[in-house]
Amino acid sequence: MDFTTQPMPAGGLGAVIADALLVVVVGTSVPPSLDKTLGALLGDAVAQGDFEFKPNRVLYIHRPAGCQVARLTLVCAPNPTPTAFKAAVACGLAAIKAFGVTALAVARVGGDAMTDAHAEALAAAVGDAVYLYRHTKPSAPAAPRLTRVVLVSGRRESASLARGLQRGAAIAAGVEVARECANRPGNHATPTFLASEARRIAKQYGMKVEVFDRRQIEKIGMGSFLAVAQGSDEPPRFIVVRYEGAAKSKAPIVLVGKGITFDSGGISIKPAAEMDEMKFDMGGAASVLGTLRAIGEIKPKVNVIGLIAACENLPSGRAIKPGDVVRSLSGQTIEILNTDAEGRLILCDALTYAERFKPAAVIDIATLTGACVVALGHHHSGLFAADEALAAELLAASRHAQDPAWRMPLDDEYGEVLKSHFADVANVGPRAGGAITAAMFLKRFAAKYPWAHLDVAGTAWKSGAAKGATGRPVGLLTHFVLARG
Ligand code: BES
Ligand code: MN
Ligand code: ZN
Repeated sequence: MDFTTQPMPAGGLGAVIADALLVVVVGTSVPPSLDKTLGALLGDAVAQGDFEFKPNRVLYIHRPAGCQVARLTLVCAPNPTPTAFKAAVACGLAAIKAFGVTALAVARVGGDAMTDAHAEALAAAVGDAVYLYRHTKPSAPAAPRLTRVVLVSGRRESASLARGLQRGAAIAAGVEVARECANRPGNHATPTFLASEARRIAKQYGMKVEVFDRRQIEKIGMGSFLAVAQGSDEPPRFIVVRYEGAAKSKAPIVLVGKGITFDSGGISIKPAAEMDEMKFDMGGAASVLGTLRAIGEIKPKVNVIGLIAACENLPSGRAIKPGDVVRSLSGQTIEILNTDAEGRLILCDALTYAERFKPAAVIDIATLTGACVVALGHHHSGLFAADEALAAELLAASRHAQDPAWRMPLDDEYGEVLKSHFADVANVGPRAGGAITAAMFLKRFAAKYPWAHLDVAGTAWKSGAAKGATGRPVGLLTHFVLARG
């Protein structure tokens, strides 16, 4: 997708040349700054009861008089925020995406000047609208033909729009990578596939990549990760990708992704209903790959290392059993009381592995607990951080990216329930506060650097009619990395 800006033509919106023009009207009445002909059209539509200044209202006009474009769509953003702008663009795109539009012009009328955040929101909305899963669905409808988007800027709007568009386009490309990886079923998106995706992205952007197989993971000493992997014939992979945008002496940001390519629960098997959705249990890993892709495009002056622990969690004659005790890379032994709490078992070894990079910060991203979905639903990702400054940075990134996250507690008292009679720590506690207990488990392995954990169990994918991966939290992570650059 090609995103550019273009100044408002001298002849106003009527003179814009494109296959289609999408006009976002800010406010709750016809803005005085809207061209006379368009203002009259809109005023008439309101008088006829065909348009209201409310979200999700669309006015489509074919070959409007006084306009160069064949297709005109008007939508309303009741307030001037980038969030409202994004929602309005999404609504307008939904109305025209089946049309034969290749080049779309977008303009915003009324309200204050646009900022880079509006431009970024436009790219995000376009990326979301044109993505279509087709890899295992030959009968999928043809992809939208949209390839070029021009943001028409007003006189008072500056070069920052171009920067916002570029950032938004890079994030949208990263989100697409994450959605596509996570949407692919477990028999396609295997640990080996994730490694090949990591290699592809690394090659495209000149990053370094290492992939470890079962034997090498054993040699490193990741006994906890391997314990989860041992129940499946599908070979596990530990993936290391390095983006070097700054001097070697600059401590890296390490992103750690949970890459369970299918989570059956193992011997503590899950109920059958909705078990298919556990193919999305590598959403954290997918978001690490997507963020690397976005960073590769933007090339910030930072060092970033992506770590992905990838395997399946299946029951078998060789699978771990409740009560088994394993030795993690950190040396701590773990009593596996529930084999379905496998995410923390693979992440703990990746977190210990991260120590060798002497990181400035480590953030793990995981579809870790159903309890997090109960706590926060599908809007906010759960943010857990012992480090106040890091928590504040991540919340700011979350706001800037319009990728909501909510901070959760990590008081030591929550860790009490993980005491075990037979090992240094148990992998589960009681149901209450399950998202926090999981984070407390991880915290034991992340004491040597500033660390945060994002539980994206409720936000990495959607269920129901719109079932599919969201690509979250690629936006949050990319903004976090950029702010450190
Ligand atoms: N991948 C799941 C978490 C999950 C469940 C995400 C449902 C989204 C929707 C994770 O591996 C898991 O099974 N967690 C258990 C932990 C429990 C056994 C302590 C859970 O949440 O039930
Ligand atoms: Mn599980
Ligand atoms: Zn899981």
